[in-house]
Amino acid sequence: MSNSGVKTDEKKQHFDDIYVAENPVPFKERILDALTYVSDNFNRQSFDRLILPWAEAKAAKGTPLNFVDLAGCFGNTTMATLNGMDYEAIRDNWKDAASARTVAQPRRLNAHVTGIDISHSALAYGQSAGIYDEVIQADLNQPDADTRARIEASLRAANIMISTAALVYLEPQAVASLMDAFAEGGDEGYLLVNFLNPFALEAADATKRTLLERFEFVGSMASRHRMMSPIERENYPGEEWVLLEIWVLRRRR
Ligand SMILES: C[S@@+](CC[C@H](N)C(=O)[O-])C[C@H]1O[C@@H](n2cnc3c(N)ncnc32)[C@H](O)[C@@H]1O
Repeated sequence: MSNSGVKTDEKKQHFDDIYVAENPVPFKERILDALTYVSDNFNRQSFDRLILPWAEAKAAKGTPLNFVDLAGCFGNTTMATLNGMDYEAIRDNWKDAASARTVAQPRRLNAHVTGIDISHSALAYGQSAGIYDEVIQADLNQPDADTRARIEASLRAANIMISTAALVYLEPQAVASLMDAFAEGGDEGYLLVNFLNPFALEAADATKRTLLERFEFVGSMASRHRMMSPIERENYPGEEWVLLEIWVLRRRR
């Protein structure tokens, strides 16, 4: 089944049938396992280094942090960053439908989590498993007016927004509108995003400029993301790994 709202670089493997499965087991078997999708270890490492100390101090004041996972799919990167789970722990949690029913590790911070994605089924799973508290289903490239208003309110209220292996799917204008909404928030706010290499480098450059126009740069790292699929190896001869640049930014004060 194809998810017609999902747009990808033609040289990158498409995984949209996996994103609309009813549970994350195909995501675990065909992406995490088959492609050695280790990126969440590095998303977590960046979160722990650049966001967690601030977030712990802020959450200790008693008010839950508003946490948004934009295009978060079944919630693997929320599990890594907020629940503190590594690649092995997420694979073990998602080893079968029964074990995936609830998230295996509690949150490390008092937070209210909003999951946003085009996939109804991924969001329904994330909410039922206790990864997301609230969900917004939307094609982020063309949300209707009511949904756009809900998304923008959620981003303005967010203290932490993550969007990983995801911005590559969005049109430049959609990225700009979403980042405008996050930038408008009145409270302190951190953003964790990542950029895949070697796919769609011009689009990634445009997204980086959009971010730097709106936010303070905090820090970054380079890491492995996952192995290239056979199709991708044909498209990029001599390369084995898809790589990541992970960036953390914050709202200007
Ligand atoms: C690779 S997954 C990201 C999962 C996780 N954040 C990670 O880093 O592994 C990409 C997600 O983007 C979503 N997506 C793609 N196009 C979208 C669109 N136009 N609007 C909303 N979500 C979209 C897909 O449904 C999928 O859940």
